[in-house]
Amino acid sequence: MLAVYPGSFDPITLGHLDIIERGARLFSEVIVAIAHNPQKKALFSVSQRIKQVQAATGHLKNVRVDTFDGLTVEYARSQQATVLLRGLRVLSDFEYELQMSHTNKSLWPEIETVFLTTSNEYSFLSSSLVKEIARFGGNVRHLVPATVAKDLEACFTQTPIPSQPTLE
Ligand code: COA
Repeated sequence: MLAVYPGSFDPITLGHLDIIERGARLFSEVIVAIAHNPQKKALFSVSQRIKQVQAATGHLKNVRVDTFDGLTVEYARSQQATVLLRGLRVLSDFEYELQMSHTNKSLWPEIETVFLTTSNEYSFLSSSLVKEIARFGGNVRHLVPATVAKDLEACFTQTPIPSQPTLE
């Protein structure tokens, strides 16, 4: 059975990879579907994110990477996928995920959402948190795949944080 794992992946973290690796053991194929989300201002372009996810998942033969616009269920339908894979990190994710799952089912009753609990060590992780750490020069190598760590370093070395005006 084919599953679609949708998200912004800006950038992919080891928490996402944990879900992808475990999903790849449960499903015959997993599509990591990178959403164009105009509501979120992305750090990385979609093509950069595709490369990052491809590099991180190259060892998984039944995982492919794609990108989509519009509704997730429409994308899933276009791929003949009836399963959406999602990770649950903490209790607060549950309410949002439940709402999304019900909404998606109201849009296409054949869709099922399968939740995997994120492994403990990544339950605090988010892409924004990783970007914030990298922006301030912190180490993110234990939180993201190696390619992403390099891209973040390159990104924030090229664009130093503007210095605050000093108060005389
Ligand atoms: N490990 C680490 N971080 C995780 C994680 C995990 N297992 N699971 C989620 N996260 C992080 C993400 O990195 C993201 O961090 P950020 O907000 O700092 O970028 C945050 O948790 C939220 O993740 P998620 O809920 O997956 O949001 P998203 O923006 O990545 O994806 C879509 C949301 C794309 C799936 C959703 O907006 C969507 O389906 N959009 C398409 C339009 C549509 O169909 N709308 C109707 C849906 S009901």
